[in-house]
Amino acid sequence: MAAINKRRLVRAALRARESAVAPYSRFKVGAALLTRSGKIISGANVESASYGLTCCAERVALFKALTSMQKDFLAIAVVARHRGGAMPCGACRQLLAEYAPNARVFVADTAKLKIVREFSVEELLPGAFRLDG
Ligand code: THU
Repeated sequence: MAAINKRRLVRAALRARESAVAPYSRFKVGAALLTRSGKIISGANVESASYGLTCCAERVALFKALTSMQKDFLAIAVVARHRGGAMPCGACRQLLAEYAPNARVFVADTAKLKIVREFSVEELLPGAFRLDG
């Protein structure tokens, strides 16, 4: 099992953030997932003129990873220029609960990258809905 290098994952999320497509909110978010085998898969938010179709960085990274045959996630880092960092939204929490239930969640503000807050997925979405009970 790969060790969790928090700083490296945060840096990967920061790099991914540069590819955010956020012309409406201008709020750029980057996310990076770490797999058990040590791979890092990243993503950034993509917005639509039909605002509700926007997809968050966390889900872009997760969908990218899952459709590249990657699973077993140890951690996800999320970075944005927001005081304390941007917390994953409810939709992303649900997807994390389903596909990365044991991942550590690291959240950081791009202006203060040394301060990384850490959560479990269960803490972010207690008692998440699951079809398998
Ligand atoms: N956003 C994310 O990508 N992740 C979050 O954790 C919070 C919000 C995006 C969605 C939208 O493009 C922009 O941030 C403003 O809500």
